[in-house]
Amino acid sequence: MSEKFDAAWLELREGIDHRSRAAGALSLLRSWWPVRGATAVLDLGCGTGSNLRYLAPHLSGPQHWTLLDHDADLLARIRAPHPDVTIRPVRGDLAMEGLAEVRRAHLVTASALLDLVSDAWLRALVDACATAGCAGLFALTYDGIIEWSGDEEPLDAVLRDAVNDHQRRDKGLGSALGPTAAVRAEELFRERGYRTWLLPSPWRLGPTDAALARALVAGWAAAAAEQRPDAADALRGWAERRDAVVARGDFDLVVGHLDLLALPA
Ligand SMILES: C[S@@+](CC[C@H](N)C(=O)[O-])C[C@H]1O[C@@H](n2cnc3c(N)ncnc32)[C@H](O)[C@@H]1O
Repeated sequence: MSEKFDAAWLELREGIDHRSRAAGALSLLRSWWPVRGATAVLDLGCGTGSNLRYLAPHLSGPQHWTLLDHDADLLARIRAPHPDVTIRPVRGDLAMEGLAEVRRAHLVTASALLDLVSDAWLRALVDACATAGCAGLFALTYDGIIEWSGDEEPLDAVLRDAVNDHQRRDKGLGSALGPTAAVRAEELFRERGYRTWLLPSPWRLGPTDAALARALVAGWAAAAAEQRPDAADALRGWAERRDAVVARGDFDLVVGHLDLLALPA
């Protein structure tokens, strides 16, 4: 049930992920970090270290990063971005080692992860953070929005709804929260007395992002057809027409994401 994430896919999205992240969350975190005397970061579902590459250059002083993923091939690609940063890759599962590592952290972070997790796991994570008194930064959680500009395409809504239903399937930790994950995480942190900021971090894709747009069209069409086998032929037609739009280079595509910052009161 657990999905495998390809290093090439993570590389394709990294630059767009970085430019999309909410600047407001970063500046609040940068103010909190030295006041708390923070040094220890736990990055959950770290992949090849995209979140480390984005965040580490913005945080002051020495940093000790624990980077956790169950995929050894992805972990093997991680490098420390500068000499003030030490890294400790940990091969483990979010449900076991992931939760156990929280107690050592001043900041728990993840990018492009929360939509994969279940409500039960998220509750356990927030409880562990509250017990440790650590901050949370959860970036780039998909929020269910897929919007194309330009030509009308009647199947866009069918595709989006099927993708969003597919997002709620079990991704290894029980039924996934999918597009509701970021809002649910904010609610849980608030219940534990945290100050929270939930900020938009949408991908805004245009002609220069055609490679990512093509990969999205293929991935969405496959997921939607799995969810709606009755509409598989129509969805194949949708993918061909959207591929043609991307190839012509006259498109804007918004894929909604949210960044959540949670600071202990
Ligand atoms: C969408 S990728 C995001 C990777 C990285 N954070 C980034 O922004 O590029 C999700 C990551 O979570 C990891 N993952 C998924 N389920 C996991 C689990 N149960 N335990 C540990 N890692 C998991 C995957 O191997 C993958 O690297």
